[in-house]
Amino acid sequence: MVLYFVIAFYLRVLSFRTQAVQFSISTSSLTPISGKAPFTISSNGALAETFFMVFGDLRSAEQVPLVVGHGGGGTHHYLKSLSQLTEENSIPIILYDQIGFGLSSHFPEQAGNTSFWTVSVLAEQLHELIKYLGIEKGYNYLGHSFGTVIGIELSSQPALRTGLRKLILWSPVASMKLADEMFQKRREMLPKGIRKKLEGHEANGTTDSKEYKQAMTASQHHNFCRLEVWPDELLESLSYSSKDGDAALTLFGDSPLETKGSVQNWSALKTAYNITVPTLLLNGHYDWSDEAMTPLFWAIPFVRWVTFSNSSHLLHFEEKERFMNMVSTWLTRD
Ligand SMILES: *[C@@H]1O[C@H](CO)[C@@H](O)[C@H](O)[C@H]1NC(C)=O
Ligand SMILES: *[C@@H]1O[C@H](CO)[C@@H](O)[C@H](O)[C@H]1NC(C)=O
Ligand SMILES: *[C@@H]1O[C@H](CO)[C@@H](O)[C@H](O)[C@H]1NC(C)=O
Ligand SMILES: *[C@@H]1O[C@H](CO)[C@@H](O)[C@H](O)[C@H]1NC(C)=O
Ligand SMILES: *[C@@H]1O[C@H](CO)[C@@H](O)[C@H](O)[C@H]1NC(C)=O
Repeated sequence: MVLYFVIAFYLRVLSFRTQAVQFSISTSSLTPISGKAPFTISSNGALAETFFMVFGDLRSAEQVPLVVGHGGGGTHHYLKSLSQLTEENSIPIILYDQIGFGLSSHFPEQAGNTSFWTVSVLAEQLHELIKYLGIEKGYNYLGHSFGTVIGIELSSQPALRTGLRKLILWSPVASMKLADEMFQKRREMLPKGIRKKLEGHEANGTTDSKEYKQAMTASQHHNFCRLEVWPDELLESLSYSSKDGDAALTLFGDSPLETKGSVQNWSALKTAYNITVPTLLLNGHYDWSDEAMTPLFWAIPFVRWVTFSNSSHLLHFEEKERFMNMVSTWLTRD
């Protein structure tokens, strides 16, 4: 549950599918081009569509495109300000929604199917999107939170990682078990009042109460986004997440304390050795990754780790300029 991006409110809505938008190449760095990339899911032959948004010109020879993977249960919306990298550094940016989330295909009939909702179907989706956009010969990948799990999966498998040049793992963890441990540690550091409310309702089984949700939001102002006022893009992602919790529940489970779903036993402790591209690790001082990401630092051969001192989980809001500088410098230097 730790990498689970939000408290979902588990409302179920009908799946929505819209016609694929004609894909063309953007000429302006400011106006994004959106579209839907079709692909066939290999585990059951189902047709799916990936919603994507491109800032900048993918065919520009100037900079390698950057594919951005959102956090668990989130959507691309909260990452839109990364288009600053396009405006200021000419880096083409691709945002997309994982299937089951936001504007990509939803599969309500697969709710609870842990053989369907797996890390590998999401890595397959990412690989198919990269092929669809025609960037499989050269791209960089930045994953945030659960998006790093998909990135690690992709970059540690020789068959999938062709064309990947550089990797940025922003608030990653080396395993779900370590993530759960670190989440507990962070909880112990919360102000006593918040902690008591959380623990009280968890013990009483009243986690759907208003007071619990308020305490959860208060805790998120400590270790999720420390800004007093949360940006609109973040609220937009949260509102999408509250519409359909099926995929998140199946992937992460319903416990606010530990990861229970199909990713429960996910670990990069072995696969991280196989990441061959230069990798930048980022996190915030108040983040729940921290110690849970240390094994990645030791395992990945070409690695650099930077911790932002005044941030928790959403560095791009909490220390925006430093984040943009760090990412653009890492991507554009040789
Ligand atoms: C669950 O997903 C797997 C993999 O896609 C599929 O083979 C299986 O038929 C699904 N189970 C159900 C009950 O739909
Ligand atoms: C939990 O239940 C006990 C016993 O009913 C009650 O005294 C306590 O206030 C409850 N805790 C919370 C946080 O609601
Ligand atoms: C740290 O972040 C907080 C909350 O976002 C902000 O109010 C404060 O000014 C920041 N401190 C520094 C030194 O940047
Ligand atoms: C994770 O491992 C435990 C212990 O081996 C097992 O009981 C559980 O079913 C596994 N969970 C998943 C989703 O594979
Ligand atoms: C790492 O890569 C090697 C060679 O490409 C492969 O044989 C091995 O199975 C991979 N290990 C893991 C844990 O993926």
